[in-house]
Amino acid sequence: MIELPMRHPELFEKIGVEAPKGVLLYGPPGTGKTLIAKAVAGETNSHFISISGPEIIGKFYGESEERLRELFKQAEENTPSIIFIDEVDSIAPKREEVTGEVEKRVVSQLLTLMDGMKSRGKVVVIAATNRPDSIDPALRRPGRFDREIEIGIPDAAGRKEILDIHTRGMPLEDKVNLEQIAKVTHGFVGADLETLAKEAAMRSLRRILPDIDLEEEKIPAEVLQKIVITENDFKDALKEVRPSALREVLVQVPNVTWEDVGGLESLKDELYEAVGVAPKAQGGI
Ligand SMILES: Nc1ncnc2c1ncn2[C@@H]1O[C@H](COP(=O)(O)OP(=O)(O)OP(=O)(O)O)[C@@H](O)[C@H]1O
Ligand SMILES: [Mg+2]
Repeated sequence: MIELPMRHPELFEKIGVEAPKGVLLYGPPGTGKTLIAKAVAGETNSHFISISGPEIIGKFYGESEERLRELFKQAEENTPSIIFIDEVDSIAPKREEVTGEVEKRVVSQLLTLMDGMKSRGKVVVIAATNRPDSIDPALRRPGRFDREIEIGIPDAAGRKEILDIHTRGMPLEDKVNLEQIAKVTHGFVGADLETLAKEAAMRSLRRILPDIDLEEEKIPAEVLQKIVITENDFKDALKEVRPSALREVLVQVPNVTWEDVGGLESLKDELYEAVGVAPKAQGGI
């Protein structure tokens, strides 16, 4: 969506479709929105301009709008370029709900700048937020942020891929089964999985620490060789890292059946009575 119009604007001219001006990435915290924007910038080799709330909001009258105009001008002069507005809700909140004059003017300026963008396809504005409902609705109108992409909570297959990435450089014991870990980490977002891998790795270090003479200049190779991250390290880490997504709303049905719940027969019966789903027939909770 972003790369193609940047590389070959003629394709879009040919089919008579305007390339997107703005793309809004939204989804829960830690799902990789900022990461994706940075990856896109890297892949497209474009001039990357990052805008963040505190940098834009100045204390003098007109200062914030001036800075915004300056950044958009820079983007137009250095095409192809990407303007990335992270946490866009902080610089473009709903105008009717904010009390500050500055915020209102910044939102209006942003709208004007997006409407005025001439080099369609050559300049793309990517914005990210985890609160899409609190940004000014005018920004989400077609012609501004034309496209909205939800960056959701990963499913088991996604979690496996993320774990693969974050354990890439780690000396894992053969027994470590990332597939299994991916299965049991329901509700973990990318950032949680990264923390999980790091936490497990730290445990392997803690285990080896008594063998290390910290006074020595260099740790001998055979000691380094001994460092492996075990299945148990992951199990222990799992006890500590909490899934962010479950703190908000549960959006995915876990793959757990009544058979996975041991004992508790009377409770199961009670739930059955209350919900009215035949546990045995249904297979799922
Ligand atoms: N899909 C993913 N693949 C690999 N790593 C991920 C993924 N999602 C998140 N991460 C890890 O989590 C970290 C945090 O992700 P990121 O900052 O992009 O989240 P975000 O969606 O921008 O969150 P927020 O809404 O809080 O700003 C990343 O630096 C990365 O290490
Ligand atoms: Mg972010």
